[in-house]
Amino acid sequence: MRFTQLSRYLSCPLSASCSPFFLTSKSKCQQNGLGTKEILRLLSYQDVGNSVSTVPHDMIHNSSMSCNIKNRHQYIKSFPVLDGNIPSLYRHVLDGNTSNSEICIQRYLELLEKVNKGGGENAICRHTQRNKKLLVRERLRMLLDDEFFFELSPFAGLNMPYGDVPAAGCLTGLGRICGIWCVFIANDATVKGGTIYPVSVKKQLRAQEIAMQNRLPSVYLVDSGGAFLPLQSELFPDQFHGGRLFYNEAVMSAMRIPQVAVVCGSCTAGGAYVPTMAEETAIVDKIGTMFLAGPPLVKAATGEDILPEELGGASLHSKVSGCVDHFASSEKEAYECVRNIFATLNFEIPAEDTLEYDSPLYCADELLGLAPKDYSYTLDIKLILSRMIDGSRFQEFKANYGTTLVNGFAYIEGQLVGIVANNGELTHDASLKGCHFIQLCNQRNIPILFILNTAPQAAEPSSFAQALDHTNRLKAQASMMATVACAAVPKITLVIGGCYGNESYAMCGRSFDPNFLFLWPNARIALVDSRHFPKHSMIWDDNCTGAGTEFKHLKKKLEEESSAFYSSARVWDDGVILPQNSRKIIAQCLRVMKQKKYQILSLQQYPLPVIRM
Ligand code: COA
Repeated sequence: MRFTQLSRYLSCPLSASCSPFFLTSKSKCQQNGLGTKEILRLLSYQDVGNSVSTVPHDMIHNSSMSCNIKNRHQYIKSFPVLDGNIPSLYRHVLDGNTSNSEICIQRYLELLEKVNKGGGENAICRHTQRNKKLLVRERLRMLLDDEFFFELSPFAGLNMPYGDVPAAGCLTGLGRICGIWCVFIANDATVKGGTIYPVSVKKQLRAQEIAMQNRLPSVYLVDSGGAFLPLQSELFPDQFHGGRLFYNEAVMSAMRIPQVAVVCGSCTAGGAYVPTMAEETAIVDKIGTMFLAGPPLVKAATGEDILPEELGGASLHSKVSGCVDHFASSEKEAYECVRNIFATLNFEIPAEDTLEYDSPLYCADELLGLAPKDYSYTLDIKLILSRMIDGSRFQEFKANYGTTLVNGFAYIEGQLVGIVANNGELTHDASLKGCHFIQLCNQRNIPILFILNTAPQAAEPSSFAQALDHTNRLKAQASMMATVACAAVPKITLVIGGCYGNESYAMCGRSFDPNFLFLWPNARIALVDSRHFPKHSMIWDDNCTGAGTEFKHLKKKLEEESSAFYSSARVWDDGVILPQNSRKIIAQCLRVMKQKKYQILSLQQYPLPVIRM
């Protein structure tokens, strides 16, 4: 299938559901208009003040000032327009990238199909017909304001050493209830009874981390048999194993992040702690049960026959134990109850987003030909930017200095963002320029988008001068790493090609805590690029014996472990996204990150969690 056909087939599944959701009324915005002078003043350093805030771009997008479409547009329109025309000279590069993208997207679709089948036909049948429960996606549909659910890490758990665990047995993602963005953690009981595998813990911890970083209320739909017992040693004892989920629930509550749970299935052991630790919990009659040990264990220990409902059903927990707060006679009633709980959170509901914006001047489908299959197939990063930013307008910073890093300001669906994008090796000058720019964003409270495509490995120095150059580069990269680590603005990282070695740290790789990190399907994540191993090394043995064979084996292993899907299966990122959807997804994330400012209750200095009595 050629990429044009493929991209039509895929054409932005997200946009279909989310665009109308965010379209705005122009007249409403103009009522609150500010003058150009005021906007310019708001963009300046003095107005942001000295406080180091983790609140994203509040100063620019608060409710009274986000609405001046007319003046804002005049301002945006003065940013220079990027030339996004691809020189015909690079036809072969485009063709190479396109055919690679097609292969990667084919793989993406196969995996998506696998994930959508959950635990398979028999398990679905058991879940819906015997156990009379709704499927996890139907539950979310009932609970959310609209159809929009931005699923995170859907490929988590695929092709793990212990087999396939579709979606790691639980869906995580972002959606809205009563207009409030929330994080959802919803077990899929069709996958081995919703039991928790090591990768499920990782995925749920990551969802909680996103909730903490972005201050998003969390909703747990609990339907889990607890730990997947054959892997208990990888689940229970360590700091970031299962118990961390419950620890986080307490800490999040102390941070004033509301957490609401619905017991909508059998919740055993670890599965029972999640709702019990939540701030407010509803249970579905005849469907929800909670116990530390279920009827079979009771029978084994005491010889007593007892029904699940009697041991830990809805009536028992709502009337006797107090482990839940709301009794619901059906799943529908439980989700209505959650919506009512949300109405009590005392959040100022964000006004409908009222920004108007221009589309990029160049077609996003062409990003498939720009997604580099290899570092040597990388074209000028501005060709990619021109397909992602509003009106392809870019206010570049230090355009002629350290040109292997491109920095500048742009708008994405009307939201101001600072862009730090690789355009070659992260040299000494490029790193210093990166430091300077990141500090500007930090001072002005502007979120940063890192577009990552690092060099496979630094060339070995062939002279003293080159060695000195490398040392200076190391020092400058260390400065950039420190700046990235300490910048208190929200960060999104998009890996569009290689994510190799130390340069990826300076570009806000996973260990540098971006609020969100996404990969294009062609992305490669590894310490070094296996394809750039020395071809004429002594250890290459044409007869495939001894060290040569070992080396080939290592190379093959590295090759497999570098793929975007391998990374996403292990939750080293927040998901593989299609290049043509990147703009939409980044815009959504910018909106989500902005929500913290709507929380009315201020943080206490020594807060306490809500403790169930
Ligand atoms: N560890 C490993 N596998 C488990 C499991 C666990 N804790 N709980 C369930 N499974 C497996 C079952 O063996 C079954 O596997 P299969 O499909 O290969 O046969 C699958 O999950 C579904 O379980 P099943 O009992 O057929 O489905 P169900 O919907 O009727 O019941 C549970 C699901 C979770 C309620 C039920 O299996 C149960 O009570 N499990 C024990 C829970 C437990 O004791 N946990 C303690 C953790 S410390």
